[in-house]
Amino acid sequence: MRLSDNKKQLLKLLADHRFCSGTYLAGQLNMSRSAVWKLINSLILLGIDIKAVKGKGYRLVMPLELIDKPAIFQQLTTQSIQLITDFQVHDEIESTNSHLLTLAHQQGDASGVICLSEKQTAGKGRRGRTWVSPFGCNLYLSLLWKFDIAIAELSGLSLSVGVAVIKALEQQGIHDVGLKWPNDIYWQQKKLGGILVEVTGDQGGPCSAVIGLGLNVLLSQQEGQGIEQDWVDLATIMKGKKVSRNALLASIIEQLLALVSNYNAMVFKTYRDAWVGYDCMRGRAVDLFIGHEQVTGVVQGINEQGLLSLELPTGEIKYYASGEVSFSAL
Ligand code: BTN
Repeated sequence: MRLSDNKKQLLKLLADHRFCSGTYLAGQLNMSRSAVWKLINSLILLGIDIKAVKGKGYRLVMPLELIDKPAIFQQLTTQSIQLITDFQVHDEIESTNSHLLTLAHQQGDASGVICLSEKQTAGKGRRGRTWVSPFGCNLYLSLLWKFDIAIAELSGLSLSVGVAVIKALEQQGIHDVGLKWPNDIYWQQKKLGGILVEVTGDQGGPCSAVIGLGLNVLLSQQEGQGIEQDWVDLATIMKGKKVSRNALLASIIEQLLALVSNYNAMVFKTYRDAWVGYDCMRGRAVDLFIGHEQVTGVVQGINEQGLLSLELPTGEIKYYASGEVSFSAL
């Protein structure tokens, strides 16, 4: 789905977050005040919070910086631009990951495809959860990349993606963000973002991975109500200091392309070593849920393969390849 030019222009006029009168907007858009009112209502239906006050006009409740392809490309290196074969920006889509997975199935050779959306109507989290994806305030990004290696050799990719995202956040001046195994992006025990890597192809290779990232940039309490875990957004971390979504997207894309375009076991080793430095669970008591099974223990870190190492109450050290970790009251 694409926003009409009128709607985009209206959003640009409202973007500075101040009241604009209906008469002013009508003049700028060269339409009647009732047409402006209709446009405003269609934006509200998309989930954009617009306040109307009699005598003052309309105002965006939260500031808005729409995804801007030229602004992103301006900040990418030539090397990265050369790796991108298709760059899609949607206003609304079911799920950027599902969209690229379908593409991978239809066109087995597709690679270097980036899909961004302002909103997802069926955003997917890990373990069948929904990813809350309202319009214009967070980042929903997927990258499709084709690898000439066996699926098993991609086992460290999702951990590495977490490191790439943290590096991008640091480039944008956002520090003290950590990783919770396997690849949740955390800040002070609250979830800031999540990564969902979906792989398809032949066991022995080649195979394609869709790397999906959801990052909370500015999420209202109301929108965040549906999230089951404690969550945080960049606006809170940065104490209101503006974070440019386009600059952040450029850094993330740059980091992800650098990772996938060179990916192999040696590269994973470097990312794995960096991952250890961002581990926000080491030494903490946790509950690990694997299907219906629950294991309690203290996190020792991750091993060379990226498996989670837990010290059980018996003193035994055990390694886990998958599962959902939550901080325990132990
Ligand atoms: C998690 O549960 O932590 C993973 C969340 C991944 C969400 C992102 S948003 C962009 C991409 N498209 C989706 O449907 N999911 C991922």
